[in-house]
Amino acid sequence: MTKSLIIYYSWSEAANTKHIAEIIRQQTEADVFRVKTVKPYPDTYAACVAKAGMDILSSTLPELQKIPADLNDYDTIFLGTPIWWGNMSQPIKSLVKQVDFSGKKLLPFCTHGGGGKGKYLAKLSETCKGAIIGTGIAFLKNGGPEAETQISDWLKQNGNML
Ligand SMILES: Cc1cc2nc3c(=O)[nH]c(=O)nc-3n(C[C@H](O)[C@H](O)[C@H](O)COP(=O)(O)O)c2cc1C
Repeated sequence: MTKSLIIYYSWSEAANTKHIAEIIRQQTEADVFRVKTVKPYPDTYAACVAKAGMDILSSTLPELQKIPADLNDYDTIFLGTPIWWGNMSQPIKSLVKQVDFSGKKLLPFCTHGGGGKGKYLAKLSETCKGAIIGTGIAFLKNGGPEAETQISDWLKQNGNML
């Protein structure tokens, strides 16, 4: 198996995307990098939705505390985000603008509140043109008890990416 890194952002207290990242880590033994913003998004749901909406309208991307210094060690990157306003979250938008994924194999995953993956995969392909993007996977909230099996099936389907 090649070397893999899981990069993800998770905002809510439920930490749904973190939960999925952890299951992927258990099944792949990939390294993990959690994206954090310099200034946290507001900690109540309504305020966070409003702030994210304003940032989208004004094309404002948050400053990140740190981005992975070097992806040279990794062949495959799992990229996880909660869905915000039908797309990848602002912190992950910020990350994909700054990090060069050219030549990397990207396996996208996301969690959502019922609206599905939205434009996440399409926008990721637009932004990361030089990457080889595998089949994405989306979970409702933390994916429930089936998440582990769904992830192992997904990893098998994308075996050529690992
Ligand atoms: C700012 C914001 C915008 C959201 N927009 C959507 C959306 O467009 N569609 C959807 O299904 N869920 C939306 N949600 C719900 C989250 O995608 C969902 O709760 C997700 O699992 C949270 O992941 P996390 O716990 O890792 O932060 C939104 C949540 C927030 C905070």
